Amino acid sequence: MNYFSFTHFIFAVIIFLQCFSPTGATTCHPDDEAGLLAFKSGITQDPSGMLSSWKNNTSCCSWNGVSCVSGDRVTVLSLLGFLKKPVRSLSGTLSPSLAKLQYLEVISLGGHRNITGPFPQFLLRLPKIKYVNIENNNLYGPLPANIGTLSQLEDLTLRGNKFTGPIPVSISNLSRLTGLFLGDNLLTGTIPSGIANLKLLQNLNLGGNLLRGTIPNIFESLTQLKFLELSRNGFSGRLPPSISSLQPTLLVLSLSQNNLSGTIPDYISSFIKLENLDLSKNRFSGAVPEGFANLTNIYTLDLSHNLLTGSFPDLIAQTIQILDLSYNQFNLETIPDWVTSLPSMSLLKLAKCGIKMSLDDWKPAETLYYYYIDLSNNEISGSPEWLLNQTKYLLEFRAAGNKLRFDMGNLTFAKTLKTLDLSKNLAFGMVTEMVTGLQRLNLSRNHLCGKLPVTNFTASAFAGNDCLCGSPLSPCLV
Ligand SMILES: *[C@@H]1O[C@H](CO)[C@@H](O)[C@H](O)[C@H]1NC(C)=O
Ligand SMILES: *[C@@H]1O[C@H](CO)[C@@H](O)[C@H](O)[C@H]1NC(C)=O
Ligand SMILES: *[C@@H]1O[C@H](CO)[C@@H](O)[C@H](O)[C@H]1NC(C)=O
Ligand SMILES: *[C@@H]1O[C@H](CO)[C@@H](O)[C@H](O)[C@H]1NC(C)=O
Ligand SMILES: *[C@@H]1O[C@H](CO)[C@@H](O)[C@H](O)[C@H]1NC(C)=O
Ligand SMILES: *[C@@H]1O[C@H](CO)[C@@H](O)[C@H](O)[C@H]1NC(C)=O
Ligand SMILES: *[C@@H]1O[C@H](CO)[C@@H](O)[C@H](O)[C@H]1NC(C)=O
Ligand SMILES: *[C@@H]1O[C@H](CO)[C@@H](O)[C@H](O)[C@H]1NC(C)=O
Ligand SMILES: *[C@@H]1O[C@H](CO)[C@@H](O)[C@H](O)[C@H]1NC(C)=O
Ligand SMILES: *[C@@H]1O[C@H](CO)[C@@H](O)[C@H](O)[C@H]1NC(C)=O
Repeated sequence: MNYFSFTHFIFAVIIFLQCFSPTGATTCHPDDEAGLLAFKSGITQDPSGMLSSWKNNTSCCSWNGVSCVSGDRVTVLSLLGFLKKPVRSLSGTLSPSLAKLQYLEVISLGGHRNITGPFPQFLLRLPKIKYVNIENNNLYGPLPANIGTLSQLEDLTLRGNKFTGPIPVSISNLSRLTGLFLGDNLLTGTIPSGIANLKLLQNLNLGGNLLRGTIPNIFESLTQLKFLELSRNGFSGRLPPSISSLQPTLLVLSLSQNNLSGTIPDYISSFIKLENLDLSKNRFSGAVPEGFANLTNIYTLDLSHNLLTGSFPDLIAQTIQILDLSYNQFNLETIPDWVTSLPSMSLLKLAKCGIKMSLDDWKPAETLYYYYIDLSNNEISGSPEWLLNQTKYLLEFRAAGNKLRFDMGNLTFAKTLKTLDLSKNLAFGMVTEMVTGLQRLNLSRNHLCGKLPVTNFTASAFAGNDCLCGSPLSPCLV
């Protein structure tokens, strides 16, 4: 699920519609032309020629990225950057003369990386502006205290810049907002409780900032919310009770990398639509509610790096593809049957989960989709040979710190494998030639012996074995 696809969908629809609407391409309002040409002159680099059609004496309604829904007034300015190829994107600043575009409803200049300057104040002088997307640029400084005057605004996407200071209190006046994306900036302070007024909000993204304090109890009125992303901040304390009122709508709850504590509330079990629950890297404690069995639409479940205890409820969801329960205080004893039977797992991480079984007894129902497996720091015995022979597209296998006993010389694994960590086990025999195809390897602290194949791995990858020799260790005595 792409958090931002909805916004982009809206823009696409608008732009699509405008291709088919009669725009008197003959003319364009002189204010709009002047504003756009001033914008162009603020752009210092345009290596892909996005603005090459922007010339005097041609109607600005027909310029690349510009649309006039009806008449001669510009309503849409949409020039998205090449996020993956920044050298093809625009560089420069946003000219304040864009304030001349008094009929502008959509401004979409995201993804250029190199558009810089303070918050574009001219936005506050555009009475009809509804959609603002200036994400993933190099804008900086505080957000304007009077941002609440943009009362028509339906979608505000400022993600991925360097904005600083607090979230302005006046944001509570943007009562038509459906999407508020302020993530991945340098915002400080707490979440203003006035966000409770944004009753149409479907998508709230404040992740990756420097926000602190408790998460305020503001969710009762946010009955449309589908995506709540508050990860990678300094939030502390317990989850506020009003999150429970998001039960009928919420699809994504992402709170990872904060300092949240307390038990995982029972009400999360009733989030029947929830697809992605990420509570990782917090201080949640106690047992996971039995009701998690009822999360039948869950696709990603990450509870790793908390202080959770006990066993884990048997989930009935067959939809799970990503499961990480690592580094808690769980005592699972075995890899649970409900995990083994999942039909389309791609990531399974059960490091330090108190698993004591033999890997020979673990035969997942479907191995084809596994990309990542981490079973490190358990007490798993047996051999990984069968598993590694069956997982045809595996990228990463970690099982460090177990009791795996097998002949390393006989090991075969997928050619796709990039990372193999079998350190601190009981592997014996020679190191297979196959490791030459890996990018990361750790075989330290086993009982391996014999001449190493030629690789670029450092000695630490092979340290603490019985009798390995050859580069990067000391030469073999033949
Ligand atoms: C186009 O207009 C700008 C000002 O709007 C002016 O500076 C420039 O000289 C004009 N160019 C031509 C070729 O007329
Ligand atoms: C713009 O149009 C005027 C009048 O039609 C003409 O004299 C002038 O040369 C044109 N300028 C450009 C840059 O095409
Ligand atoms: C970013 O903009 C600056 C100043 O306009 C320019 O010197 C630099 O080359 C640009 N960087 C990229 C990657 O386009
Ligand atoms: C919200 O708008 C109202 C009416 O324009 C104004 O009186 C109030 O001060 C604004 N609230 C904030 C927090 O800016
Ligand atoms: C996290 O919370 C605990 C108390 O629950 C506190 O002792 C600790 O300093 C906090 N850590 C950070 C990084 O805020
Ligand atoms: C799952 O939901 C059903 C129906 O809402 C409820 O009766 C049952 O108690 C729930 N199971 C758990 C373990 O909470
Ligand atoms: C690996 O799998 C193939 C078939 O997929 C099988 O023929 C072979 O015996 C297996 N090897 C091991 C070591 O399990
Ligand atoms: C490893 O392979 C050799 C022959 O290739 C075989 O004799 C030996 O039994 C195998 N070892 C294990 C542990 O399967
Ligand atoms: C290799 O594994 C050992 C033991 O698990 C660990 O201490 C060491 O840091 C690892 N080295 C690398 C390079 O990952
Ligand atoms: C080791 O690194 C060199 C230089 O990066 C590279 O050319 C060579 O192919 C590498 N060898 C192996 C076995 O990966």
